[in-house]
Amino acid sequence: MARATLGIQGIHSLELAVRQAEPWLNFLTRGFGFQLVASSMGAAVEASGTRRRLLRCGDIRIVLAEVIHGGSNIKSFLERHPEGISAVRFRVADAKAAESILLERNATPMGAVCNEPCGDDTWREITIATPLGDVDFSFVEQADIQSILMPGMEPAGSFDPAHNPAGLLGLDHLTANVRTMMPVLAFCEHVLGFTRFWDVSFHTEDIRPGVGTGLKSVVMWDEASGVKLATNEPLRPRYDASQVNACLDANRGPGVHHFAFNVTDILTAVDAALAADVSLLPMPPAYYADLPKRIDAQGIKGFSQPVEALAGRNILLDGDSTGHLLQAFCRDQSRQNEHEDAGPLLIELTQRCGAKGFGEGNFRALFEAMTKEAGA
Ligand SMILES: [Fe+2]
Repeated sequence: MARATLGIQGIHSLELAVRQAEPWLNFLTRGFGFQLVASSMGAAVEASGTRRRLLRCGDIRIVLAEVIHGGSNIKSFLERHPEGISAVRFRVADAKAAESILLERNATPMGAVCNEPCGDDTWREITIATPLGDVDFSFVEQADIQSILMPGMEPAGSFDPAHNPAGLLGLDHLTANVRTMMPVLAFCEHVLGFTRFWDVSFHTEDIRPGVGTGLKSVVMWDEASGVKLATNEPLRPRYDASQVNACLDANRGPGVHHFAFNVTDILTAVDAALAADVSLLPMPPAYYADLPKRIDAQGIKGFSQPVEALAGRNILLDGDSTGHLLQAFCRDQSRQNEHEDAGPLLIELTQRCGAKGFGEGNFRALFEAMTKEAGA
């Protein structure tokens, strides 16, 4: 008999715990074309101690959750961590049915299924604890999937679905950093019903004997919806020196390290971000000097642009005979905002041209660039 599924349809929203909404609001609206569509008001803010602002671009929703008074659960999050992802909401067809399956699978609910009016709709949500520290996962049922509201919110402006200057298509994946990934993989498999999609491990010992560091990464996915969660852990030798540990220190524990937007054209997306003063992680010149050789050696298919177009924008290329993948990484928020409490969270831009993997060579290049930046 087929195993029951949670009926995940995609990611409804990512919730960001922020000290002040304004820097993130500017970053997402100017840099990536998000629109502020709704905001919690009055009694909802008073009861939760939190003001939530819903930003939307296409079908991507990001909630900025800002502390208003001491009763806020966001305040607790921010006492333990810098700003970052405090909740991931998955869209499901039936929240009560999802709850039954979660209970059968020994998930840990953090409360009953909430049942709240939301515009002309009803919002049903069940939230569970996760092995990603203080990051909660919720399963949300909302009949109107185009709704621009969440409970307690009122519209903050009109939403123009056609406004998408950076060409964002959706969320490609989330990536978490942890000290050990087995609890996360077991949780993904046995609680969420995810299966293994991709994995990589590498160490820079081979090119930097005695000082190199490494990581292991495994991507789990929900095959029906395509939702993907990557988890990184440090790799020996020099486990403590791994860039994954540097991020764990900066986040004061495990959590979401980055999320990736799929884009239609990465050159357009990067140019839009750069024009809005978004700072991208600089890649070493050697990466681009070696790229033509790698394109040949790996038989990377379908890439015909000049390498200089990528080098000038810090865009990475990877792939194989099935296609290619282009990626760019924003500097983390502590550097975007020049404030340590803005945290190590960063945004990735991904353009997929046939390639379904995560760019093994790019992983190493990113890891090295981040290690260099952390030491700069
Ligand atoms: Fe990524």
